[in-house]
Amino acid sequence: MGLKHALAGLACAAASATAAWSTCRWAPAVNASALLDPGSPELGRVFGLVGEFEAPFVRGVGVSSGLGVTRDGAVLNYTTGTAAQLHDFSAASKEGFHLALAARCIADAAEALGGRPRASAASDPGLQLARKELLRALCGWPSSGSRRRTAQAAGYWVATLGAKLDSFARFNSSFPGFGGYLPWFSVPANNSGSMGLLQGWENRVPALDNGELFWGVVAAGQAARRLAGAASEAPGFESAATEAESLAARLEAVWSAMAATARTLFWGGAESRGAVFAVTTIANVSLPPGQSPVSGSGRLDDPYEGELFTWVLDLLTGLDAAEREDLWLAKRPQLAAVPYRMPSQLAAQGAAAPDTVSVQRGFWFSAHEQMKGLYLPYTDASLVPTSAKVLRACEVARAADSAARRVPGLFASVTDVAAVPPSDLLPPVIPGYISAAGIAALASQPIQRRDVVTPYGAMAMALVAPREAAVWYVHTLAATAMQGPLGSTAACNVNGTEIAPVATWDSKSSTVLGFLGGVGDLTGEALAALPDTGGATKLDRFRAVTEREMQRVFGTTVPGSDLPIALPTAAVPRTEGLRDFVTC
Ligand SMILES: *[C@@H]1O[C@H](CO)[C@@H](O)[C@H](O)[C@H]1NC(C)=O
Ligand SMILES: *[C@@H]1O[C@H](CO)[C@@H](O)[C@H](O)[C@H]1NC(C)=O
Ligand SMILES: *[C@@H]1O[C@H](CO)[C@@H](O)[C@H](O)[C@H]1NC(C)=O
Ligand SMILES: *[C@@H]1O[C@H](CO)[C@@H](O)[C@H](O)[C@H]1NC(C)=O
Ligand SMILES: *[C@@H]1O[C@H](CO)[C@@H](O)[C@H](O)[C@H]1NC(C)=O
Ligand SMILES: *[C@@H]1O[C@H](CO)[C@@H](O)[C@H](O)[C@H]1NC(C)=O
Repeated sequence: MGLKHALAGLACAAASATAAWSTCRWAPAVNASALLDPGSPELGRVFGLVGEFEAPFVRGVGVSSGLGVTRDGAVLNYTTGTAAQLHDFSAASKEGFHLALAARCIADAAEALGGRPRASAASDPGLQLARKELLRALCGWPSSGSRRRTAQAAGYWVATLGAKLDSFARFNSSFPGFGGYLPWFSVPANNSGSMGLLQGWENRVPALDNGELFWGVVAAGQAARRLAGAASEAPGFESAATEAESLAARLEAVWSAMAATARTLFWGGAESRGAVFAVTTIANVSLPPGQSPVSGSGRLDDPYEGELFTWVLDLLTGLDAAEREDLWLAKRPQLAAVPYRMPSQLAAQGAAAPDTVSVQRGFWFSAHEQMKGLYLPYTDASLVPTSAKVLRACEVARAADSAARRVPGLFASVTDVAAVPPSDLLPPVIPGYISAAGIAALASQPIQRRDVVTPYGAMAMALVAPREAAVWYVHTLAATAMQGPLGSTAACNVNGTEIAPVATWDSKSSTVLGFLGGVGDLTGEALAALPDTGGATKLDRFRAVTEREMQRVFGTTVPGSDLPIALPTAAVPRTEGLRDFVTC
């Protein structure tokens, strides 16, 4: 408790030191050209602001303080932008984000204690420094970063993950049938007690979200290992080393236990030829896995974020060689290339017809689909060059589509926009969630909505072209009421009349994690330490299968993947009915 108070004090001191030039409404004043200029400090300044204003969600309302677990999000007061109502539920995918950001903070603390610095982005030292600025503000590091004070501040993350694991353990002991995986769950309003079952999910559990949770746990475990290692080498940090060591061991035990139940819950069996269930129903969640019948429904065979769970089964559950191959054969029909012709309008930006980009066909081509890149090293060009090219090609097309059509932002599945309430005493009526947002020419499914854009449309771009992603992100934040005391707002419509007055893990932290490069370096490091068959490591297996599957469809050159990323050509208009939050 004392530590948390100390941290809050530090955060205030940092905030007042910068108050002269920063308010929560900072995006309209950002110089986009400078964001793209490797010699300019603008990216670092902007990343620092992103960290500062996303922190009140990531270390505040997005987390149940007593339980250490996430809340899905908050409904915003349409006038003030403050949290009017906290969601009393969450899911495995939000836990994945929280664990991954905690992993980045803990790994950064390890570096501060003298651990090995991260070997990436060496070609852009400004990006490396900007990421440090983001982490300093987001993680709550003291501005004058002595090793001791940074290690103390890291105590917040170690303690929060400890509380989270306590909550997970209570849930597992009440409902062992879930095998350590999480359904959508309830979070008590008073922040005390336990995670509970949520209506509709009392005995059902989804694989996709749990793939994100799984790799988030692995990343956090690896980060805690690094901290334990660095602290044990630094004289005077013995107790930090012991705490980090114990956290690492707990996290590793959790993912090992989850891996041990994965087959029972989510695999269709050898005769199913590679089936992975999208959702599994458990007859009696009070009984351990294997002691109560389960039935799977749907197929998780997408080549997008669902693939994170395929990797759990392939790498960590002891399937034989043929059973592992079947997982990938079952997915092949969904992995397809679509030629995207660069629009001629983009000639001024350096790329235009007749250039053609070889893009991976999307479901809706919503940015959400690319979340696998946040968790496993899919965009590491030195490890999986073809995969990295394909994921960049997708962002070339995503940006070109919006730029050429003068759409003032990027598309991703997101909460719908809500009309401004007639009185500020009335809560907004949120119509629902927009799933089918994307680019029709690049999607296998019909697109229903192209009138709502979201800052997190830049989430996947952040992994492959962080400077251009920052331009798109800030561009959307510059629209009316898209910034508030809780940082970024989820979405706005392109005609500037309405926002989606919510703050959620999906819409907020996905891009922050993207700007930080995801956690693929951490999960990759964990996999490199685990032996697979024939003298190879599990990371070798990841590399071989990822490249094989991508090269089957795209070859090795991936035409168009190195074209410039187009920049915004239109802004969301300001309209009379919508105002900025009065607090900003
Ligand atoms: C914006 O940044 C560019 C590139 O760093 C610089 O040349 C230009 O002067 C800046 N514009 C303003 C208004 O500061
Ligand atoms: C859940 O509880 C069981 C029984 O105590 C234990 O064996 C298992 O390791 C736990 N799973 C997780 C993910 O903690
Ligand atoms: C918190 O709320 C739960 C119900 O959601 C209740 O069971 C529990 O007693 C409450 N705890 C406190 C300390 O008020
Ligand atoms: C589920 O299992 C528990 C523990 O064995 C048992 O007490 C309970 O009656 C079972 N519920 C049903 C609906 O069978
Ligand atoms: C929004 O905030 C204003 C100012 O604090 C307050 O008067 C109003 O009641 C709030 N509205 C809702 C729906 O909470
Ligand atoms: C703005 O877009 C919304 C849908 O997001 C639509 O309902 C509304 O009619 C549009 N308003 C104007 C003035 O175009």
